[in-house]
Amino acid sequence: MTRGKIVKSIAREVLGSRGVEVWSRLELIGDIAVIKKPIKTSLTLEDFKALGEALARKIPGVKSVWLAVSPVASPYKTRSYVHLAGEERAWTIYREHGCSFKVDITRVFVTPRLGYEHLRVASLTGRGEVVVNMFAGVGVFSIVIAKISKPRAVHSIDINVDAYNLMVENVKINGVEDIVIPHLGDAARVVEEKLVGVADRVLMPLPDLALEYAPYALKALKGPRGFIHFYLHMGMDKKREFLGKAVDIVKSKVESLGWSIPNANSRVVRKVGPGLAQVAVDALVEKTG
Ligand SMILES: C[S@@+](CC[C@H](N)C(=O)[O-])C[C@H]1O[C@@H](n2cnc3c(N)ncnc32)[C@H](O)[C@@H]1O
Repeated sequence: MTRGKIVKSIAREVLGSRGVEVWSRLELIGDIAVIKKPIKTSLTLEDFKALGEALARKIPGVKSVWLAVSPVASPYKTRSYVHLAGEERAWTIYREHGCSFKVDITRVFVTPRLGYEHLRVASLTGRGEVVVNMFAGVGVFSIVIAKISKPRAVHSIDINVDAYNLMVENVKINGVEDIVIPHLGDAARVVEEKLVGVADRVLMPLPDLALEYAPYALKALKGPRGFIHFYLHMGMDKKREFLGKAVDIVKSKVESLGWSIPNANSRVVRKVGPGLAQVAVDALVEKTG
């Protein structure tokens, strides 16, 4: 049975016919399970607590269950939660691609749904490269790249002090102190002050700011050529024309800044809402003139 079907079947057992109102998505982050509160629901907090108790009992390895009661919000991309069952503990160790990450789901952004994307970008990163990750969170992307691709350095920036502190711990936990360099602050300011002209590759895993901060990604690049991974939110259409549109949007932004894009690919990273996708645009950029 898929995880979604398990949630649905437990919801039916606990809540009877009202169980249909429960969303099937359940995120497992280490030993913490997260379910989402539907925007409109007749279910009470007591109903969700009863469901949480059953999930903690029936899903192997789950020690704590939380209800996400708000969408992900800027600037730190965190959500509000209510504890439902099990240990009242929001921190856990999340594992991905052989690396371990200390996270606190109430204070930092983390989702297992980016796992494949981390691996994909790591596989594109060359040995000895210098990478700048402008929106690094607790360092998952940066540390997976450091472990898998053996870059020379990954400069890892985040503005959220809790994410930065956990990133510093995670760098130690994974033994990549000689590669991953955490920076606390606004990515634009950190690039301007410390990272102009250092990078072969720049990551911008924050759709809210990827286009606005494009000038700083370009400034971080070492030479007249480099790679930038842009992430955008795009409305989806049946013919998948949005993938081409995402490339066009990035191209016109980069061209307006005096650079060109000789080569770019785009792909859906994950669905983030009804008809809405997070799209990655991998761009080879070149300074014009
Ligand atoms: C979507 S999360 C990053 C996810 C992470 N790269 C991963 O793969 O798990 C975006 C991060 O950008 C950070 N952020 C938001 N505004 C920022 C800014 N102006 N400069 C640097 N970091 C920022 C947030 O605190 C958040 O941790």
